Amino acid sequence: MRDQIFTKTNDLVDFTFDKSVANVFDDMVRRSVPGYQSMVEMVGLMVKTYGQDNTNYYDLGASTGAISLALGLNNNHHNNRINAVDNSIDMVGKCKKNLKGKISNFDVICSDINDISYENSSIIVLNLTLQFVAVDQRQALINKIYQGLNPGGVLIVSEKIHFDDPKHQAKITELHLDFKRANGYSELEIAAKRQSIENVLITDNKQTHFDRFNNAGFDQSLCHFQCLNFASFLAIK
Ligand SMILES: C[S@@+](CC[C@H](N)C(=O)[O-])C[C@H]1O[C@@H](n2cnc3c(N)ncnc32)[C@H](O)[C@@H]1O
Repeated sequence: MRDQIFTKTNDLVDFTFDKSVANVFDDMVRRSVPGYQSMVEMVGLMVKTYGQDNTNYYDLGASTGAISLALGLNNNHHNNRINAVDNSIDMVGKCKKNLKGKISNFDVICSDINDISYENSSIIVLNLTLQFVAVDQRQALINKIYQGLNPGGVLIVSEKIHFDDPKHQAKITELHLDFKRANGYSELEIAAKRQSIENVLITDNKQTHFDRFNNAGFDQSLCHFQCLNFASFLAIK
């Protein structure tokens, strides 16, 4: 279904992942996030390299389940369980429907990702989700994820990022707006979404992500993909 949520701007409230967003999420994310398809495909590639037999995979902030599908459809390891976690009941409903019959060995869990215990895992993915977690809770979450990973396991994080140089930030922001315009969003829709999401989606710069991975204890972390102001990171335990 086409995203037309911000065509009407009456009663603008802070953005939430409610039923109206869940219904159009697949269209919204593809038309708003440059490189989204590649982010998902990279996860499919990485499960082959970093997945381990007899371990858990976690898709945190699973929304409609694109990452769980990439994990399940590309998995070449044995006896894995995919745990798709989201705290939006509407997203959980969509996710269950999307995964049913396409992959096996999965659970869709309605929970805050800060409240889950991570155990015996080889792959944990935060695709466009950490940016919605309170800034002062982010390090504790990454620490917990690190503790739940087996040696050699990985955390894959994709996020909207910002840049410290104002000129760089302005240029990339303009290109991101062009991306949205090219995908059919009007100036009104772009402005309304920006206003609705600005208190909810809080970006970090790349260095903050690297510092967090280091503080948690990851052996190695790198940025394996970037498209404009969206970047994907691989942190290896
Ligand atoms: C931008 S979407 C993620 C997109 C999805 N990972 C994908 O690749 O298509 C963010 C999701 O994170 C969920 N979310 C945000 N904060 C959360 C939290 N603390 N616990 C669980 N889910 C959360 C939202 O409900 C939403 O579905």
